[in-house]
Amino acid sequence: MNRTTIACALALVTVFTAAAAYVSAQSPDEQGSPIYGVRLPEGYRDWKLVSVAQENGQNNDIRAILGNEIAIKAYRENIRPFPDGAIIARLAWRYESSSRNDSVFPAPQSFVAGPPTNVQVSVKDSKRFPDTAGWGYGQFEAGLPTKNPAVVQSCFACHAKLQKLDPRADYVFTDYSH
Ligand code: HEC
Repeated sequence: MNRTTIACALALVTVFTAAAAYVSAQSPDEQGSPIYGVRLPEGYRDWKLVSVAQENGQNNDIRAILGNEIAIKAYRENIRPFPDGAIIARLAWRYESSSRNDSVFPAPQSFVAGPPTNVQVSVKDSKRFPDTAGWGYGQFEAGLPTKNPAVVQSCFACHAKLQKLDPRADYVFTDYSH
């Protein structure tokens, strides 16, 4: 390699490094939630089940609550507060009656998950989120963060109400279902 080749290679490395830095500086805004910059965690759909829940009323959905390895370990070993790195994802689908399934039953009784509504994520990272008891929040629809800051602002405001009712819960409503 002569000097010109080396200089060109170095210049290219500089350009690529700058481009990568630009992309990584940009993407939190694109893919992260407002305020917290929480992203939809990779592979969350394969996480283990913490529990299920169903909400009536306006939401009218059925939900699965999943945890990453750190969250599941804390749940199973009854460790609170949740350690840094714990992530809990709440997946929800429209709660629908299934006429197909009902046709094999003597009376209508089958309710199933319809189309997805949204995924909500709570991330424990006490260094990143010191003002909200170590929790960061995000909501995602079709894989993209809900960009209305008011939606994300409501997360901690409501989860913090649990602190008075059940201080040991560490701002997490869902208990582990055995
Ligand atoms: C008005 C109160 C309220 C608001 C606002 C709210 N939550 Fe929750 N959240 C709950 C309750 C109650 C549960 C458990 C019962 C359920 O799922 O129906 C829950 C469950 C969860 C769970 C499952 C783990 C747990 O803590 O039980 C996650 C994750 C979650 N919420 C994240 C969020 C995020 C992210 C936001 C904001 C985008 C948010 N929540 C806004 C009340 C709230």
